[in-house]
Amino acid sequence: MSKKILLGVTGGIACYKSVHLCRLMVKAGYEVKVIMTPAACSFVTPLTFQAITGNRIYINEFDAGVEPDIIEHVWLAGWADEFIIAPATANIIAKIAHGIADDLLTSTVLPYKKPIFIAPSMNVDMYANPVTQKNLALLSSFGHDLIDPNTGEMACRTEGKGRMAEPEEIFDYVFCKEKPLSGLKVLVTAGATAEAIDPVRFITNRSSGKMGLAVVRQAKALGAEVRLVAGLTSVGTEGFDTVKVQSALEMLDAVQKEIAQTDILVMAAAVADFRVAEYSETKIKKTDEAEITIRLVKNPDILKELAPLKKNGQVFAGFAAESDNLEVNARKKLAEKGLDMIAANDISRKDIGFETDDNEIMIFSSDREPFSTGKVSKDTAAEKLLLFARELYGKKNGSV
Ligand code: CTP
Repeated sequence: MSKKILLGVTGGIACYKSVHLCRLMVKAGYEVKVIMTPAACSFVTPLTFQAITGNRIYINEFDAGVEPDIIEHVWLAGWADEFIIAPATANIIAKIAHGIADDLLTSTVLPYKKPIFIAPSMNVDMYANPVTQKNLALLSSFGHDLIDPNTGEMACRTEGKGRMAEPEEIFDYVFCKEKPLSGLKVLVTAGATAEAIDPVRFITNRSSGKMGLAVVRQAKALGAEVRLVAGLTSVGTEGFDTVKVQSALEMLDAVQKEIAQTDILVMAAAVADFRVAEYSETKIKKTDEAEITIRLVKNPDILKELAPLKKNGQVFAGFAAESDNLEVNARKKLAEKGLDMIAANDISRKDIGFETDDNEIMIFSSDREPFSTGKVSKDTAAEKLLLFARELYGKKNGSV
């Protein structure tokens, strides 16, 4: 029997691309039913989808008597083998993230038991809005599969990220994408540690946590079970399975507790190398002195502490933030920290690294040629890093 696909279409200009997506699925032999929101009907007529699918199109929640013996939204949710929403507007994303069910499409989302493929499509500023980003993070934490929008020219004559992925890309993602990390447990550290001086002050660094969070998202998308240990981050960690920490010592403790249940560790956090020797329980007051001296002592190196605990099949990946001699320094860290691979970043470059959305990492390991991701989004860099780690994991554990 052919696979049954439910396609949700919401009101955005990319509706015209969904017509092509629908055609691709029908051509591949899938049975497709389409739910359109009333707004989607302003962009493309239901008749177009009806002609392509050969099925009636579902729009209104309370169409009395069409199929009197079924409760449509519950029936559709049970019928579908796969559920794709493309295009997914900021509005539908917000509604799904918060469990709102006020039309046929959202009412069908709630009883659907599997992850839904969601292809966001919106203006660049709507996509970048922190509320949308938070909602997307929530969707991914609920296990839904987000199909990253593309960057490029938009219908609103702006340029940037928010264009819905092309129909062929969505088709490949849903029907051809492998989940190479399924069944594996990935532990990620992200963000900066904060070393307290007194109750109001601390020493930290410029890490935003964006790279670590990209690793979390991608590991989930590749099928892994992911745990995050997060220090200070300027990006939200809501919705992920997260242990929040402040200092390097707390991060060490959290990671030590998790490591036995981990297959792949990705240590993306920027851990402070030093902490304050004498923490002041009370706020340090300003005095007449022109200078103040704060003595720092060395923090433990978390990776070095973990090295003796490492089990045979585990893969440990670290990062190397370097401003010069990238390869020499990265290889030194690879060896000294007992790592299987290390992703080196050139932090002297302004276009990649701290606080930016892009990165270019060079991956070193003991037995493979160095591999550069090229300058790509942090999500793409994270995906490549994880696939590299998966390959090493396969080698260690006797599977490909
Ligand atoms: N790291 C760690 N514990 C520390 C410091 C760093 O586990 N106390 C980890 C980082 O998470 C990263 C790797 O070690 O995966 C390299 O971090 P980096 O800051 O590049 O190097 P350092 O070891 O701190 O050395 P340096 O600052 O001299 O470059």
